[in-house]
Order: sequence, then structure tokens, then C-alpha cells
Amino acid sequence: MLPEMTEEPRRSRSTEAFFGRRRGKTIRPQQAVALEEGTRLYGLDLREPAPQDLRSLFDAEVADVRLEIGFGGGEHLVHEASRHPGTGFIGVEPFVNSMAKMTMVLGETPMANLRLYDDDATRLLDWLPEGSLAGVDLFYPDPWPKKKHWKRRFVNEVNLSRFARVIRRGGIFRFASDIDTYVNWTLLHCARHGAFAWQACEASDWHTPYAGWPGTRYEAKAIRENRSPAYLTFVRT
Ligand SMILES: C[S@@+](CC[C@H](N)C(=O)[O-])C[C@H]1O[C@@H](n2cnc3c(N)ncnc32)[C@H](O)[C@@H]1O
Repeated sequence: MLPEMTEEPRRSRSTEAFFGRRRGKTIRPQQAVALEEGTRLYGLDLREPAPQDLRSLFDAEVADVRLEIGFGGGEHLVHEASRHPGTGFIGVEPFVNSMAKMTMVLGETPMANLRLYDDDATRLLDWLPEGSLAGVDLFYPDPWPKKKHWKRRFVNEVNLSRFARVIRRGGIFRFASDIDTYVNWTLLHCARHGAFAWQACEASDWHTPYAGWPGTRYEAKAIRENRSPAYLTFVRT
């Protein structure tokens, strides 16, 4: 298991920006084995300082490093890491069942350009060296549609400043959501923040999925329920 999972009581894990469930259905024995082995091989230990050159975290020779926050079923992360073997990917997911699923996949198909972190992404962001990422992906973050819960949304001024610190100039922040108030919220927060320029020339741009987009389980459900996805891309200025 990840060192942080074994040595600290679960309630001491950070919840600055994580308000969801940590666990769902009981983990099957086979999944538990995959989780232990997978987190030993792929898990990041934040008690160690981050290497100044983040590329050294990977067994593969990588030119750049990208981060996906809240990878859920891992559809996009696995797809993208397979498509770009020369890029290192860090996937963050605090929901144990999703991490178990991911480590089962990695048991079948090891990936030398992937590392994982199993807690609140804000902790990882604060650990990363300045300007160390080529991009951050935040796809279908927990929507918190009720106004009284908007303050729980991952996109906020503090987290945008975290992104601005770790994404190098010219790097990319991508955000997809099916919740129109969250899409507007993100456009507004990025415009106000000032470190991110939205890359859209016309309205059709933000309804067009990203190049090579595989879809995610969450997105498929949104589409079945007649909610339209928006795909935003911002450049770190
Ligand atoms: C609605 S799901 C979307 C999952 C996936 N991106 C997709 O499109 O299918 C949101 C995910 O974000 C994760 N999450 C929520 N807060 C987080 C945080 N602070 N750090 C990292 N992941 C987080 C949740 O555990 C959940 O898996």
C-alpha cells in the first residue's frame, strides 16, 4: 500500500479539497493484492522531497510530465499514457475502489511512464516543483451543483494559483464538465485569476472533444442524461 495509506490513520489524510467518499464496495482479495503491488510500484511518497527534475520519477525516458486529477475509472489516463509513451503521467485519485481498478489494469499492462497518488490533489500540487508540469487535466470534477456547496469545487482561486505555480509557461490546463454552472464558474475564475488564457475561437470549440478523447464513464452517464459536455482549454500565460 502507499506509505501514507499504511502509516497514518485515514482521518488524518488531507481533505482541503476532497469531500467525496474514500471507499465504495468491499475491495476483492485480488484487487487488494493489485492495490498493494500497484501502489508499491507506482505510488508517490510525498514524505520524500520531489526531485528537482520530475522526469526522473519515471522508469521510461520522458520529455514532459502531465497530471490528471481525479481520474475515476482511469479511461482517459490509461488511454493517454499509452498514446504518449514519451510523456510521464501522474494520476491522482483518492477513491480507493478507483485506485484498485487502475492497479488491476497496471498488473495486466505495466506502464513505465505512469505514477499514482491516492489522496487530495492539493497535497501533490504543493509538493511539485515550480514549473514542472506541461499540463493539468481536470475532467468532470465533482460538480457540487447546489449553490451552498460551490465553495467545495476544485476550481477556486487558491487551486488556480497552485496550477499557475506548477504548470510551466505555455503549458495547458484542461477542464471538462457537463454542469453548465461549473463551466461558467471556471471560465470566470480563470479570467479573474489572470494566469490562464482560454483557447476558444468559436462556440463550437468548447463542444468539440479533445484530440484522441476516449470518453469516460462519468461522461457517458451525463450524455445519457442529456447533459452536454464542455471541453475547455487554457494556456498558462
Ligand atoms: C465525478 S468523478 C469524475 C471521474 C473521471 N474524471 C471521469 O471523468 O470519469 C470526480 C473524481 O474526482 C475525484 N476527486 C474529488 N476530489 C478530489 C481531490 N481533491 N483530489 C483528487 N481527486 C479528487 C473523485 O474521487 C472522483 O473520482
